[in-house]
Amino acid sequence: MEERVALKRIEELRDLINHHNRRYYQLDDPEISDSEYDGLMRELIELEDQFADRVDLSASPTRRVGAAPLEKFGGILHISPMLSLANAFSEEEIISFEERLRRLLDVQGDVSYVVEPKIDGIGVNLVYEKGRFRSGSTRGDGTVGEDITQNLKTIRTIPLKMQSAGTPPIPDLIEIRGEVYIGTDTFKELNRQRMTGGDNPFANPRNAAAGSLRQLDSRITANRPLAIFCYAMGFADGISFKTHWEFLQALTTWGFPVNPLIRKAGNIQDCIVYYREMAVRRETLPYEIDGTVIKVDSTDIRERLGTVSRSPRWAIACKFAAVQATTIIEDIIIQVGRTGVLTPVAQMKPVRIAGVTVSRATLHNQDEIDKKNIHIGDTVIVQRAGDVIPEVVKTVEPYTNNGKRPFRIPDTCPVCGSGIVRLEGEAAHRCINLDCPAQIRENIKHFVSRGGMDIEGLGEKLIAQMLDSGIIRDPADLYDLTADDLANLERMGAKSADNILASLQRSKAPPLDKFIFALGIRHTGEHVSKMLARRFGTLDAIMNASEEEFLAVKEIGPEIAGSITIFFREPSNLRTIERLRKAGVKPVEGSAVSGSLSGKTFVLTGTLESFSRSRAKELIESLGGTVSSSVTKKTDYVVAGASPGSKLDKAKHLEIPVIDEEKFMEITG
Ligand code: IVH
Repeated sequence: MEERVALKRIEELRDLINHHNRRYYQLDDPEISDSEYDGLMRELIELEDQFADRVDLSASPTRRVGAAPLEKFGGILHISPMLSLANAFSEEEIISFEERLRRLLDVQGDVSYVVEPKIDGIGVNLVYEKGRFRSGSTRGDGTVGEDITQNLKTIRTIPLKMQSAGTPPIPDLIEIRGEVYIGTDTFKELNRQRMTGGDNPFANPRNAAAGSLRQLDSRITANRPLAIFCYAMGFADGISFKTHWEFLQALTTWGFPVNPLIRKAGNIQDCIVYYREMAVRRETLPYEIDGTVIKVDSTDIRERLGTVSRSPRWAIACKFAAVQATTIIEDIIIQVGRTGVLTPVAQMKPVRIAGVTVSRATLHNQDEIDKKNIHIGDTVIVQRAGDVIPEVVKTVEPYTNNGKRPFRIPDTCPVCGSGIVRLEGEAAHRCINLDCPAQIRENIKHFVSRGGMDIEGLGEKLIAQMLDSGIIRDPADLYDLTADDLANLERMGAKSADNILASLQRSKAPPLDKFIFALGIRHTGEHVSKMLARRFGTLDAIMNASEEEFLAVKEIGPEIAGSITIFFREPSNLRTIERLRKAGVKPVEGSAVSGSLSGKTFVLTGTLESFSRSRAKELIESLGGTVSSSVTKKTDYVVAGASPGSKLDKAKHLEIPVIDEEKFMEITG
């Protein structure tokens, strides 16, 4: 490739990859499949290799893939020491924190705070010189940390270059502090992979993050799903902030990930309310938190308060109560899921953990049972992690360990008696019988769920009752139900029966995407269903599409495309769809693709004032248009905000209409 063209392409690929990194890691909303991403990365690596002497590699996203192993970490002196936080373990201690603060300050009115989740990860210090990431280290002893720069560079949401739109300016030198962590889902996946590869699983996400960050070979770190939230400033030259809130705003502008649950609190009571709220919400967060942090918002007040014994007086960590408890496994039952996966579940002597009574915990799979050496009757430690499902951590006292093997998942399905298989590369055992009553029940539950056909009043118990009595065998049977069928069920009054028939009737015109989701196609969740509905418009178009056509949809990779194709080739699935149609189920079709921007392709560049990129994209898509990340001859419009990039030049070169924000608002109404 000619040098000029190659350099341009390198720049374009870097922009694209940075954009997709943000979509994937920060917004959790990827626009392209993993394989497309890998393709872009490969192209960039090749071009950069070819023109290595002509490009500055230090700011390239390819530098995040990891470097050769180090012998040992060097030390880095923090410019400003990394302090730790004093702890409060109860609401009383939070009140005393403020009382002490008031005594020292002698203030009358309320003190304003910022409240944050306390992320259970590893604290790090990131040094930026003139906006470029120079070095990064662990906390160490607070004065000197370990140099983990290479490893931190593999975390894609840590900007190699700070972004700026003018204000706030980029300081000459700044230390940014944050917490590196691993999300709970990715942690589980990581452990699953480790176990399949014969490695010991990590005990918890925090250990996994610490272990990954302290790898001497950053190529290993690069393959670990690390993420970061930034929350504090160390030394800063050339910038100051009146409040912490303002600083957090600046962090976002500069491109650092900031936790979305951080809030302002007008007084200490609000901080306590937040602490209580987070104690409940922690269960459903996708990462682990071990408390909240209360920070005085005003820089002035912070300076007046100062620091004692390496902790600032202006902040406090409010720790949650312990979430582990000891109990006994009384039995282990096997649950069969929608796709036939067998999950062993421990039935335990009820125990209270962080305010909730727990009597069941998942044991995941046979590998986990073997690793933890679990038998019925064992005394175990149970924990509620950043997840609603409690988990057995380890056996503290094996009840039957004298030569006896740990509990074994049976060879036959406990529900239908069919054979069990364990596919290669999978930790799970599966029941192979597609007609297994347990799979059918789970399928029907999925079909009627809110994200699917949204049939009100059909709970788990009722579905089980209907299956047991034989009045239904599959989802399509639901629509053949009569008042008589229902009347024969135990504890079913005439009124309830009427309500169920009415909600079945109401569910007959679902939006197409919900109908697709309800079918329970493997790997096809709500998001993919939406994409299919938007791209194909009608059920027939989806049913008749080829695997290649599915692959052409942005979010759909080979695995999903394969499972959709197989689903619509399977005669029994086609029969079910036909029966649903005969019963009067008619998805609402075609609405998503038609719109005032139908068929038009947009490229966004620069910063828009009234819209975030994702909002602008949503808007375009809701009107039937598509958003692409690079300008080509096929682009219809380029929307240019403040400080547009090379895309604008390319648009001009190709003579593609460029519209500003005002015009964009006009055409999107
Ligand atoms: S602020 C001087 N904010 O908790 C204040 N720390 O126990 C510096 N941590 O060393 C820390 N989430 O590693 C702060 N939102 C948050 C935090 C947080 C987690 C960690 C951090 C710190 C430790 C103190």
